[in-house]
Amino acid sequence: KTNDCKLITIDQIGDRRGHISVVENNKEVPFEVKRIYYLYDVPSGEERGGHAHKDLKQLIIAVCGSFDVIVGDGETEKTFSLNRPNKGLYFTSGLWRKINNFSSGAICLVLASHKYDEKDYIRNYNEFLSYKK
Ligand code: TYD
Repeated sequence: KTNDCKLITIDQIGDRRGHISVVENNKEVPFEVKRIYYLYDVPSGEERGGHAHKDLKQLIIAVCGSFDVIVGDGETEKTFSLNRPNKGLYFTSGLWRKINNFSSGAICLVLASHKYDEKDYIRNYNEFLSYKK
């Protein structure tokens, strides 16, 4: 179900002094945010992710710079390029993901529906394929 992931446009409140974008629980994000983390200082050419989550839902935002998020459901793959702070990728559970093509200085902000739980991860791709069956 790669099609369950979708790009959300977050409103921009702005004038000549710049912009503000706001994310609220159950509004711009269709869940309660329990955790926020961010990836930064990613060296050029590196790839993050390479796992799936059983329950976790996320909103992924390129607050600075750009990167690509590759979503896979075991059958199809889809690439979303994030390059604006007012675009968020709503990422549902049960999908494989990779993040690559980080620009220099990129910051990947992730709003997550649950606290960190290693048991929610599927880190082995073959295990993911059998989980999807
Ligand atoms: P991981 O989710 O594998 O990173 P990515 O998907 O960006 O490649 O996490 C990397 C490491 O950080 C791993 O050892 C687990 C740890 N971690 C936490 O302790 N808490 C968290 O909330 C997250 C997201 C990761």
